[in-house]
Amino acid sequence: MKIASIVGARPQFIKAAPVSREIRQHHEEILIHTGQHYDENMSDVFFEILDIPRPNYNLGVGSGSHGRQTADMMRGLEDVLEKERPDLVLVYGDTNSTLAGALVAAKMGMPLGHVEAGLRSFNREMPEEVNRVVADHLSSLLFAPTETAISNLTREGITRGVHLVGDVMYDVALQSAQAARSRDTVGRLGLTRGEYILVTLHRPQNVDQKETLSSIVEALVNAGRPVVFPVHPRTRKNLAAFGLWDRLSAKVKAIEPVDYLDFIALLMASAKVVTDSGGVQKEAYFFGVPCVTLRDETEWMETMEDGWNALVGAETEDILHAIRNFNPEGIKSKSFGDGHAAEHIARILDKFV
Ligand code: UD1
Ligand code: UDP
Repeated sequence: MKIASIVGARPQFIKAAPVSREIRQHHEEILIHTGQHYDENMSDVFFEILDIPRPNYNLGVGSGSHGRQTADMMRGLEDVLEKERPDLVLVYGDTNSTLAGALVAAKMGMPLGHVEAGLRSFNREMPEEVNRVVADHLSSLLFAPTETAISNLTREGITRGVHLVGDVMYDVALQSAQAARSRDTVGRLGLTRGEYILVTLHRPQNVDQKETLSSIVEALVNAGRPVVFPVHPRTRKNLAAFGLWDRLSAKVKAIEPVDYLDFIALLMASAKVVTDSGGVQKEAYFFGVPCVTLRDETEWMETMEDGWNALVGAETEDILHAIRNFNPEGIKSKSFGDGHAAEHIARILDKFV
């Protein structure tokens, strides 16, 4: 079977890595990069470090408003899919690249598979929520990472083509842990294992308004312990625009985004993670690192249920309280699969006609 996989943003390169490896054993894969993320440290490094094949196409759409960016992607995708005529289109997660891929496949009458189907934050103000809902409702094959995702789909009347396969990010995390451990990322950055806080931040609701971003920055500079912060380009731009960069860099080790192995190395050796990322909440859970999430809701309820993830929003005092006092110790009983989600996806695709 000929499968067209569509990726475009950092977390999608990571998700596609194990799936691409598996599906190429029995199928022809055409890998299409929309170009949504384009900085070397947001894109190329992931292809190198995770050994992802070079994309057959890079549409080079770059940044823009949601409508423009998605429209540019759709235009490019239609041309490529018209030329390649795949038997199935595969999309990942919930970005605008997911949305564009799903819409174009559906309009061209091509079967669609969605990896990481069924996630919901129940907050339609998040662009990702809209993207996921659309992708799920257009998919013939829905690869759900968790039982919660299956329930969400059932509630929306989606039961056909739904498969519980586990989380492909868990596959990658397990496969990469050893290589990450052997890296001296922590020492290289002048940090001490178990003592520092790792921060990531990029949600528009946290970084696009000066007041909110400033509230978060105040918490980070007053954390009372070392903080390392690989800064997403959206956030870097806004920290500069709002005049917050200098305030931050006095106390916080603000660095460029790092590659996946360096990130996992930093995560495993951190005392706590402070984040608004979807993927990072899960990785903190996988490696037993307490996670302070700067949001009011999460798609990843499993990380909350055993008490390893605290949702605190963006108020300085709430963040500081969690940084000082959130110290979960209990068991981690929730399943993100058996570490072979990509293989399960590939076996299902083998049978798809
Ligand atoms: C996107 C996804 C989000 C995902 C995140 C992962 C959507 C709507 N959002 O958010 O779901 O969690 O990726 O990181 O699809 N920029 C650069 N260089 C780059 C990429 C972006 O400078 O390589 C800057 C540009 O100023 C751009 C801004 O970051 O305008 C935002 O990029 P964009 O891809 O639109 O959204 P993200 O915030 O990255
Ligand atoms: N990540 C990385 N380098 C960084 C920050 C994050 O490799 O500097 C990885 C992280 O391990 C996780 C993924 O990027 O696997 C999460 O991506 P992001 O937070 O951009 O998107 P989200 O998961 O929120 O969609």
